[in-house]
Amino acid sequence: MARRCLAIVLAAGESTRMKSSLSKVLHPLAGRPLIGHVMETLSRAGVDHAALVLGRDAASVEKAAARPDLPTTTVIQTERLGTGHAVLAARSAIEAGYDDLIVVFGDTPLVTPETLAKARAPLSQGHDVVVVGFRTAAPTGYGRLLIEDGALVAIREEKDASDAERRIDFCNGGLMAIDGRKALALLSEIGNANAKGEYYLTDIVEVARARGGRAVAIEAPEAELMGCNTRAELARIEAAWQQTRRHDMMLAGVTMIAPETVFLSHDTVLGQDVVVEPNVVFGPGVTVEPDVLIHAFSHLEGAHVASGASVGPYARLRPGARLQEKSKVGNFCEVKQAEIGAGAKVNHLSYIGDASVGAETNIGAGTITCNYDGVNKHVTKIGANAFIGSNSALVAPVSIGDGALVASGSVITADVPADAVAFGRARQEVKEGRAALLRERYRAEKAARQKAK
Ligand code: UD1
Ligand code: MG
Repeated sequence: MARRCLAIVLAAGESTRMKSSLSKVLHPLAGRPLIGHVMETLSRAGVDHAALVLGRDAASVEKAAARPDLPTTTVIQTERLGTGHAVLAARSAIEAGYDDLIVVFGDTPLVTPETLAKARAPLSQGHDVVVVGFRTAAPTGYGRLLIEDGALVAIREEKDASDAERRIDFCNGGLMAIDGRKALALLSEIGNANAKGEYYLTDIVEVARARGGRAVAIEAPEAELMGCNTRAELARIEAAWQQTRRHDMMLAGVTMIAPETVFLSHDTVLGQDVVVEPNVVFGPGVTVEPDVLIHAFSHLEGAHVASGASVGPYARLRPGARLQEKSKVGNFCEVKQAEIGAGAKVNHLSYIGDASVGAETNIGAGTITCNYDGVNKHVTKIGANAFIGSNSALVAPVSIGDGALVASGSVITADVPADAVAFGRARQEVKEGRAALLRERYRAEKAARQKAK
């Protein structure tokens, strides 16, 4: 029978060191709040229930954490009396009875489901407490793991540690698995007689051993257990996340010429043989089919790009941009909430918003869909095989039929039927010889002024 597991997520901290009006766990990593990453890991690890221990911004954190595939309850820790006290705030969830209990921190988002599984494994072999540790060259600030004969005998917090203990480089990563049937009894015995006067969750190791129980430490990579207390640490976590994800994408068949300059979101999907040139940013919600070329300095968000299309350089695809097969959106073009049909081209300096562009249509340089009247947004419909001359303004709502031709420089305010030509500009006049006459007059006037001085 599968062991049932409760995860307690500690996120009641004040986030003082972030110096932010936003709770720490709501700060984004790869375009999604930290807490969202933690919850995804829990769900992928097959946790049955999560209890969120929250303090500030509880309603927003609860919303950011919610997942349809993971039943979650929220408890509020009203006083911050330490990590041991925080876990006990979820007492009623623990009382519901689980085989395994895991404790994770809301600000440690890089932990993998595999490490959670490894942490739970010793519980089924009769251990009461499993602590996930890591080795580091910079242990300052972490609790140190005291090991004797392969067993974990205590965790010593930095402030309570002796000089010899501070030299230990094996640290508490904050991730813990506890026998779910014994957890309440063990947690209730934790006191606060220490340097900070807090209830330390870490004391559970000594409590369990005093009752004849067994505790063990397992090791995970430091990168997985990086915690986020400051914005500088948040940036380090982001860098680690990006590096891992780019690497995975390259192994899956994506070419990145300068991977360190490409920024991905948690949900970016790039198909096989996609080529990404330097300095490209993928905001949330982007899917790119195979064989797409994304030129340098492009910014994509909420966009779908079909196979064979080409984007950029310097293109901006905003939410709702849908590029069909083999279409092109080129330099300094912005596309928002618009479909660009198969083989259509929007090559230079255009804004296409709230619009549809039919297959094989050519949008000339500098074309603007005027979608906003200051109050409402309106739609522009352009058919297939149409040609929009350069520097045209299409004032929505307006539609342009299949095969129609719009003369360049037009301001189009009324619908254009299929196969029609529309001019929306002043007719050109030519005055033979007039330029030479004007020049002579201007020179004469200038000479007269200089003489008068
Ligand atoms: C803790 C560990 C330390 C470990 C380190 C790893 C304890 C006593 N110490 O120290 O051994 O090396 O994490 O990063 O556990 N929280 C609450 N309520 C509280 C106190 C904390 O919800 O009353 C939450 C915080 O929001 C945070 C987590 O618990 O998510 C850890 O608290 P923090 O104060 O960061 O503990 P550290 O001093 O880093
Ligand atoms: Mg911490």
